[in-house]
Amino acid sequence: MAEATLGPESRRSASGSFNVTESLLQDGKLYIGTSRKPDDTNNKPEYLDLKFGNRHGLVTGATGTGKTVTLQVLAEGFSNAGVPVFCADVKGDLSGIGAIGEPKDFLQKRADQIGLTPYEFQEFPVIFWDLYGEKGHRVRTTISEMGPLLLSRLMNATDAQEGVINIAFKIADQGGLPLLDLKDFQALLNYMGENASTLSNQFGFVSKASVGSIQRELLILEQQGAEQFFGEPALKISDIMRTTNDGRGAISVLAADKLMMNPRLYGTFLLWMLSELFEVLPEVGDPEKPKLVFFFDEAHLLFNDAPKVLTERVEQVVRLIRSKGVGVYFVTQNPLDVPETVLAQLGNRVQHALRAYTPREQKAVKTAADTFRPNPEFNCADVITQLGTGEALVSTLEGKGAPSMVERTLVRPPASRVGPVTDAERKDIMKVSPVAGLYDEDFDRESAYEILMARAKKAADSVAAQEQADAQPEEKPAGGSRWTLPGFGDDEPAAQPAPKQPKPRAGYQRETVAEAAMKSVARTVASSLGRALVRGILGSLRR
Ligand SMILES: Nc1ncnc2c1ncn2[C@@H]1O[C@H](COP(=O)(O)OP(=O)(O)O)[C@@H](O)[C@H]1O
Ligand SMILES: [Mg+2]
Repeated sequence: MAEATLGPESRRSASGSFNVTESLLQDGKLYIGTSRKPDDTNNKPEYLDLKFGNRHGLVTGATGTGKTVTLQVLAEGFSNAGVPVFCADVKGDLSGIGAIGEPKDFLQKRADQIGLTPYEFQEFPVIFWDLYGEKGHRVRTTISEMGPLLLSRLMNATDAQEGVINIAFKIADQGGLPLLDLKDFQALLNYMGENASTLSNQFGFVSKASVGSIQRELLILEQQGAEQFFGEPALKISDIMRTTNDGRGAISVLAADKLMMNPRLYGTFLLWMLSELFEVLPEVGDPEKPKLVFFFDEAHLLFNDAPKVLTERVEQVVRLIRSKGVGVYFVTQNPLDVPETVLAQLGNRVQHALRAYTPREQKAVKTAADTFRPNPEFNCADVITQLGTGEALVSTLEGKGAPSMVERTLVRPPASRVGPVTDAERKDIMKVSPVAGLYDEDFDRESAYEILMARAKKAADSVAAQEQADAQPEEKPAGGSRWTLPGFGDDEPAAQPAPKQPKPRAGYQRETVAEAAMKSVARTVASSLGRALVRGILGSLRR
């Protein structure tokens, strides 16, 4: 029998080929590709079981071996299964997932090889995002939301600087001061510099030198364009968890080509997203399929000289976020890029080819090979160096959650376009996006600020008398920083313009975190004096 076998008879049509729709989503599993026997005939289709989709994953391989296409294939599968996906588009080539695929020889060849007939094309519901607002809808967060740990990482803070940043957040969290953008943070630092000795008594040592060096770092960040990222309206997590009317998961594609030039901002941003997801989403245990799947491309940037405490926290969040139904998939060249404790949690694995010339490369090959459940038919380490483009060693979780025996697999060709969308196509997609118009404009900052200050004052007034009695009497700072620090005296210049009304914003109803923070401060103040906002593992605000 010359005909290739394609595994279980139930998955074959009479002609011995796949039915695409059936094969792409079979019994709650997504089709990744078809494995080969040592004699190069088809072995069986390889699937990722949706119920283990939240048990995380790893896609590795040298440049040009097929990682992005594999990511595309997985994202397509999840989307068709109704699972929203978030991924970063590092080179721009992933954007094509929003366009229908085109018949190309190399794709058709792959389809023929694995018996995928008919090979059908499809476009996917994509939402483009961009921190710079050029290639997608603006993504913003606030300093308050990001929290001290990630902000310290973003600024590559020394221990002394991190200490000051922690105190700054303590002051802001306790006082209900919304830190929206870099200017707000600068203003608070000004205040801290001017009142260093008083604050040191209350919060621990505030070094003027450290305050100054943080302020200089903030200026650098500003020049690098991070300024655009901090402010409002901040990204609402529910906007990356959308599904279409026909039940497909939206694929959020973050433009990351420009962002990659600032690797720390890239890494910190993705960690912030992960942290937000973790704090916002409810516990769901092990769902039938994930609530969201999150792809971390260029994952080495998350861990490159990350302080130990951050790596530990990331490990913890990755472990715990599973029960919130979020699957995290790391995409990187080398499995050694991911700390071992994180690596151990990544259940679904696609290993593309690696080179093995240098000792470090040989070590990577060995590590990669050792993490698989061996297949007696071949030697993993040997095969890893021999894999062709778009071919990979694949092992996914099966049964009660054990890794399947590793198989040498030809990854299926995507149904959407391989390669980027054009600028015109991108614009068209953005125009009809469900978030069109929601994030385009900066929130009227002055107005928001004044209103928030008024609320802060209102919340604080009820306790001001109480706290004032406890606090040291202190001199008014000379420079006009624009903060009112409840409990620390009022340094607001007397002649402030009257609060402006915010412009009405059609369709935009998000309670900003700052607003929520104010309410929660008001609640906290009402119940017990001066209790700080609660922050989660990676420092995001608990909700
Ligand atoms: N599953 C596949 N089927 C067909 N061609 C593929 C497949 N995977 C990769 N390729 C080919 O290899 C090229 C490089 O793949 P890519 O995913 O961009 O590599 P990487 O992200 O690892 O650098 C693609 O542009 C495509 O031509
Ligand atoms: Mg790539």
